[in-house]
Amino acid sequence: MTAHSRRIRRCGVVMIEPREEFELDVAGLFAGTQATRARVRMVALAPHAGDEIELDEAEVAALGRLGDTEWVERDALAGRVPDAVVERLLAKGLFIGDGESDAPMRARDDTVRGVHWKPLSAVAHAFSRWHEAGVDEDVRITRHRTLTELIRESGPPPPHVTSRAAPEARQPLPAPRATAIDAILARRATCRNFDTAGTLDLARFSDLLQRVVGCQAEVEILPGTKALKKAHPSGGSLHPLEAYLVVQRVEGVAPGLYHYHVTTHALEPVATLEPAALRDFAMRCVAGQDFFADAHALLIVTARFERTFWKYRSHPKAYRAIVLEAGHVSQNLYLTATELGMGAFVTAAINEVDIEDMFALDALRESPLAVLGFGPRAPAKTMLEFDPLGKVWDSDALKPA
Ligand SMILES: Cc1cc2nc3c(=O)[nH]c(=O)nc-3n(C[C@H](O)[C@H](O)[C@H](O)COP(=O)(O)O)c2cc1C
Repeated sequence: MTAHSRRIRRCGVVMIEPREEFELDVAGLFAGTQATRARVRMVALAPHAGDEIELDEAEVAALGRLGDTEWVERDALAGRVPDAVVERLLAKGLFIGDGESDAPMRARDDTVRGVHWKPLSAVAHAFSRWHEAGVDEDVRITRHRTLTELIRESGPPPPHVTSRAAPEARQPLPAPRATAIDAILARRATCRNFDTAGTLDLARFSDLLQRVVGCQAEVEILPGTKALKKAHPSGGSLHPLEAYLVVQRVEGVAPGLYHYHVTTHALEPVATLEPAALRDFAMRCVAGQDFFADAHALLIVTARFERTFWKYRSHPKAYRAIVLEAGHVSQNLYLTATELGMGAFVTAAINEVDIEDMFALDALRESPLAVLGFGPRAPAKTMLEFDPLGKVWDSDALKPA
């Protein structure tokens, strides 16, 4: 496959994790000494390659003998790395060749370089993405375990409050003065009970999108270069976040998948799915959390990393800044939905890979960070919500307060 490549170099980003795994020890089992045996595998994590790659010792050593900048004549490497090892690393995509058959992997590698990923961030992002998680499990049982169960398994959590001074050294602060935002903040609670029988009116759907992901102004900073003003802050004012929608029950909007066009405040149709396929995709989005998939609309927040990394090249904080930004969008959505009399949620338990596939996103350039959802609450609560103030649900009647 790679026989034609004359020059090679190492891929731009690869990290190696010595990973201990336990396997069945049949001999030990019969001897009655041990049932499992530890084994350490060398796992290469290279974002452009997509999947984890197992390496042997010779391959690990070879990765240290070829740089990732200069192209080197393959023959020049012959004395230092056995030809078979070079061939295997080319096939695994960790050595990049300049031949025609190497072009697809070289293009992936060029993307990692060209987007200006910081290597640690690229690895963290690429290998924390899920594919088909929660599809075949009942996550109410597997993931939503009670606090009592968790404490039984792991002991108590770290304390809920911390202190750095003696009580008498604390300076008491004046009681907060009531303002309009208090009522909204007090009523904000993660909604796990959406009204599956009803629809969301177009007016509230539109209001929410405009406030949360829409822009308030489009400013020409330099001729041909524009910036957006939005409700949330953005590192470098670059606003790399995009909004995609899974519309399930919104009046006047055909159920389906959309991209939100920010400067015109409009929906761009991406796909129309049959009801069963739409529900299946909504479930994939939230990794099987059916109470979230019930929301009238899901809002997928993706990041166009290359936009922020254009300024913050290979920057150790750039990825973190983008993730933080998604948190701002989430809270704005919670507060806006609450003010409009709706429930809202955020989850990071999402199947990024399924979402990328559906919206044709290249994960190295643009990828989901969170899935949010909103819509009117159900008339009665069946799934747990955290509402200790009783501002959302009437605790006796189990109805929205
Ligand atoms: C980043 C993030 C991810 C979350 N993911 C989930 C989730 O996967 N499933 C879920 O039921 N709740 C999820 N939540 C909601 C929390 O469980 C919820 O905020 C917490 O229980 C406190 O309740 P409250 O939001 O009503 O105050 C998430 C919250 C955040 C901030």
